[in-house]
Amino acid sequence: MSDINWDELRQHANDAMKRAYAPYSNFPVGVAALVDDGRIVSGCNVENASYGVGLCAECGLVGALHMSGGGKLVAFTCVDGNGAVLMPCGRCRQLLYEHSAPGMILETVSGFRTIDQVLPDAFGPRELDAYALTDPATATTCEGCE
Ligand code: THU
Repeated sequence: MSDINWDELRQHANDAMKRAYAPYSNFPVGVAALVDDGRIVSGCNVENASYGVGLCAECGLVGALHMSGGGKLVAFTCVDGNGAVLMPCGRCRQLLYEHSAPGMILETVSGFRTIDQVLPDAFGPRELDAYALTDPATATTCEGCE
């Protein structure tokens, strides 16, 4: 935590925010994260005339993470068009959770928080394993499962 350079991370988020394509909401967002090998990855929101298809900045960040070598996220920050710290939306907390290192820290509007604090009792890869059907032949299935 103490060895994380939050000013540098926020600077990357601000630089990313300036690349946003947000003509519909006029609400540019930039995000940046420190990867467990020391890399910094970032992203901006990219909207679409079909509004619901727009991509949050975190989508770009996760793409950048994988395209630049993968790894796990250890620290994350998100800024709005004024450079102020912004909370990641609910969907994006789920996106971040999937790629988080244990104890990942987020800079939030209420101070530094862990990923478990901003997404308590999360559903993730472990739950898929833990609650998987043991014997699909005998299990009760829903219509959509058949
Ligand atoms: N937005 C993000 O990029 N990330 C978030 O976590 C919150 C919301 C974007 C989506 C949309 O382009 C704009 O902010 C307004 O909702």
